[in-house]
Amino acid sequence: MAEFDYDVLVIGAGPGGYVAAIRAAQLGLRTACAESRETLGGTCLNVGCIPSKALLHASEKYEEVSSGLLAKYGVKVKGAELDLDDMMDEKKKVVSSLTGGIEFLFKKNKVEWLKGLATFKDAHSVEVAGKTVTAKNVVIATGSSVTPLPGVEIDNAKGIVVDSTGALDLEKVPGHMVVIGGGVIGLELGSVWRRLGAKVTVVEYLDQILPGMDGDVRKEAAKLFAKQGFAIKTGTKVTGVEVKGKKAKVSVEPAAGGEGETIEADVVLVAIGRKPNTDGLGLDKIGLAVNQRGQIETDHEFATAVSGVWAIGDVIPGPMLAHKAEDEGVAVAENIAGLTGIVNHDVIPAVVYTHPEIASVGLTEEQAKEKGKVKVGKFMMLANSRAKANDDTDGFVKIIADADTDRVLGVHIIASVAGTMIAQAAQAMEFGATSEDIAYTCHAHPTHSEAVKEAAMAVLGKPIHM
Ligand code: FAD
Ligand code: NAI
Repeated sequence: MAEFDYDVLVIGAGPGGYVAAIRAAQLGLRTACAESRETLGGTCLNVGCIPSKALLHASEKYEEVSSGLLAKYGVKVKGAELDLDDMMDEKKKVVSSLTGGIEFLFKKNKVEWLKGLATFKDAHSVEVAGKTVTAKNVVIATGSSVTPLPGVEIDNAKGIVVDSTGALDLEKVPGHMVVIGGGVIGLELGSVWRRLGAKVTVVEYLDQILPGMDGDVRKEAAKLFAKQGFAIKTGTKVTGVEVKGKKAKVSVEPAAGGEGETIEADVVLVAIGRKPNTDGLGLDKIGLAVNQRGQIETDHEFATAVSGVWAIGDVIPGPMLAHKAEDEGVAVAENIAGLTGIVNHDVIPAVVYTHPEIASVGLTEEQAKEKGKVKVGKFMMLANSRAKANDDTDGFVKIIADADTDRVLGVHIIASVAGTMIAQAAQAMEFGATSEDIAYTCHAHPTHSEAVKEAAMAVLGKPIHM
């Protein structure tokens, strides 16, 4: 009889956990995955990436039609109507088809789903729904949840002060939505409800939105969102939220101190970041401590300080992104199987799925300049023929390269399809490309991607179309 019930037990079936479980099973390891949700797929598939993108897509269609934007193409629509229930039904269909897909993949790859909350008893024993199972290796992939704002009570069921999960499920379009936090969630979900008719005010503590992004991108994004009708209050802190009947009163004041004001809202979305999920896991039972930010630290193989216990995804340091979690899922399974699983954390793209999209990979100009001398090339989407043909010319491509070696250090894009364009930049950087490599690669015409080539030419000092 085997010493352990499983070779690998993964805790959490988000993009990190489900991918780790499938890859481990593909490598011939006896694998189980504990998940306490009713459906697989974690935050991303259930209440994150997928439902938000479904609503972003649907709301973009609605805005195109209802705003008369299509009229210039001769597409004249009268009396566009919003049926929010239908829009939400469509979102639910997409979510359940994808979460069901993971269940199918588990069956296909013989990954056993242990339904329930998992708690460590010791490093190789985990209790799931009252039953103890043993595993030679345990992978912690418990993800993250919303960071609460002290003194502000989130109640998604009431639908007045909500987090992202509540904001994906509102029953009607709010008259006024106040978003606390000018980060990714605030701008994506703020865009959804603005397109559907809400007035949206974003309250951001720092003096610019989208912290961590390239300075030029942050400036341009703020301009574009303001043009779209967002009211953006930067350098402003929320001191309290009071709910009275069906309205909320948001008290704000300048972050640096000064006179405050009250903003009335129908819905308040709290989106000030996410925190790793480790409560109730029983880490104390295995002697595993978390760092100051509540994250589990690992080495580059994703092994924790406790032998046989590994960790990946949002619960460990690094950007909280689904594709980062997935890549770590593959790598950890390969490492457990005795292969070499590596993730290059210097080349993880990030995309904000607003319109236009905002995408980046590698160092910002500010970060690159701290490390040494750089060359920067920029190409405006206004000079890109495909963007022109589509009359969708907001944004730019910016490439930062090492001044001496010409090696590409970072790429930042604002463009309608920036999320798709960033893949070539990530691949180029993964292969150690120079801006000359990109500039002399033939790009199809007319495509948005030609702007990447032209930005690379700008690094060398010779763009053609600008
Ligand atoms: P999670 O997806 O959080 O999964 C962890 C799972 O573990 C959960 O299902 C949880 O129920 C389960 N779990 C936790 N503790 C236990 C336990 N003790 N026992 C059993 N099960 C447990 N990222 C992108 O890259 N692109 C996007 O477009 C994007 N959009 C997003 C939109 C929103 C609104 C949000 C909130 C997030 C978005 N993200 C996006 C981030 C992305 O969802 C996360 O980075 C990703 O889900 C992290 O994967 P994970 O596997 O680490 O954790
Ligand atoms: P975020 O970190 O992107 O943004 C939070 C914002 O809130 C920051 O601008 C921060 O300065 C601000 N803030 C913090 N405290 C504040 C306060 N008290 N008052 C006002 N502003 C305050 O976090 P967000 O938007 O909650 O998203 C969480 C994470 O989820 C993201 O970091 C990202 O990893 C992931 N995500 C990714 C998406 C994508 O890839 N497209 C989409 C949505 C979420």
